[in-house]
Amino acid sequence: MRIILFGAPGAGKGTQASRLEEELEIPQISTGEILRRAKADGTPMGRAASEYMDAGKLVPDEVVVGIVKERIQQPDAQKGYILDGFPRTLAQARELEDMLEKIGAPIDKVVSLEVPESNLVERLSGRRSCPECKAGYHMQFAPPSRDEICDKCGGSLVHRDDDRPESVRERLRTFEAQTAPVKDFYESKGRLARVDGVGKMEEVFELLREALRK
Ligand code: AP5
Repeated sequence: MRIILFGAPGAGKGTQASRLEEELEIPQISTGEILRRAKADGTPMGRAASEYMDAGKLVPDEVVVGIVKERIQQPDAQKGYILDGFPRTLAQARELEDMLEKIGAPIDKVVSLEVPESNLVERLSGRRSCPECKAGYHMQFAPPSRDEICDKCGGSLVHRDDDRPESVRERLRTFEAQTAPVKDFYESKGRLARVDGVGKMEEVFELLREALRK
């Protein structure tokens, strides 16, 4: 199954995509995560992308389209995948459609996680993640058992650079201006399902599974 998980920054795409990855045994493909890894490794792409990311702006389309094109051709993505954070502009959505049409493997489901802005800010400001094993936490909603230490691997948790208040404001503006139209694009094709993303993580997961079954 090929799935797009759509939603604003902090809507819970990463949280739900990793649960789906486990359940469906298909990889989560997070462009944000791939870019953060490139940034941490200090690759030329990572260095170029970090300027955009830290400022809360989108990395140029050609860079992310290239990443996705290569990633979906990997052997582990042949049974399907969950796109998390892509496509994020109309140009990316159109490129993806063309790419998949050529190989005869269209997207099966586009699910939008719907969360109001006040919840998004609360979620992003409390988020922590483990740079070692990538586990995600929230200081209020999903806290680690020991302060700022990863339960899974003992690594020190970090607050993402782009979760600072000024970057969060810019990310939310960018989402409204450049990414929200992608939802209309899939809705006009009759491919969009909306899921209420407010509620406990397990409850949202249940709604998501239901939307994917339909
Ligand atoms: P990316 O990493 O994709 O960031 P994002 O879309 O802003 O999404 P987030 O990772 O912030 O949020 P999420 O929806 O995954 O929420 P999460 O599950 O973590 O992109 C980062 C940057 O990379 C972009 O700004 C851009 O510069 C660049 N980039 C990436 N893709 C690009 C593209 N296609 N084109 C151009 N540039 C691109 O949850 C958030 C918090 O809430 C966590 O702490 C979690 O524990 C908590 N939480 C989750 N669900 C719940 C719940 N139900 N109740 C309470 N708390 C919850």
